Amino acid sequence: MKKNKIGVLLSGRGSNFRAILENTKKGYIKNTEIAVVISDKSDAGGLQYAKQENIPSFFVNLKEFQNRDKYEEKIIDILKNHEVDLVVLAGYMKIIGENFVKNFKNRIMNIHPALLPSFPGLHSQKKAIKYGVRYSGCTVHFVDEKMDHGPIILQAVVPVLQKDTEETLSIKILKEEHKIYSEAIKLFFEGKLEIRGRKVFIKGRD
Ligand code: GAR
Repeated sequence: MKKNKIGVLLSGRGSNFRAILENTKKGYIKNTEIAVVISDKSDAGGLQYAKQENIPSFFVNLKEFQNRDKYEEKIIDILKNHEVDLVVLAGYMKIIGENFVKNFKNRIMNIHPALLPSFPGLHSQKKAIKYGVRYSGCTVHFVDEKMDHGPIILQAVVPVLQKDTEETLSIKILKEEHKIYSEAIKLFFEGKLEIRGRKVFIKGRD
């Protein structure tokens, strides 16, 4: 049977990528493989790990392209050449353009370290602490044309204690990220996610 194929985009250490890879190997996410890893940073830890694991991996340097659209066309090309069914943004720190979204409509997921729509953008954990919220967490959502905005698939909640620092909160949230990202991907490939407007319905649950 033909395997489902994931394309991962990342910019950093790649712990979410590693957790997802582990869950494909273990069979928690069934009949699925990570077909390709792409990074916009040459020194991303996740890129090194992909090489170690013999997963096709590419560094795509924005500076080598005339503009952002051309840069993204290259990424789209790589994803299509590897017959990717689902694009997973795992700590990819660039905004996704309209053409990219159109090419993979409802087939791009992102994870964000806050309970969206609170604290979109960068430094979400720091912002959550500064604001004084009692709870934060993480969100897996489909990607649309706006940043950290598309239909929400899953969220996990983490308590924020007065003694928490950006670092301790990030660690607590990351632990949940590693669980819910794989769960969302599993649901996607089981055909259990149905997008209706802004909402995602999970078959058998909602
Ligand atoms: C994760 O916390 C992820 O939620 C965040 O970057 C980190 C990447 O860690 N993503 C964003 O902030 C995107 N807006 P990782 O490289 O270890 O997976």
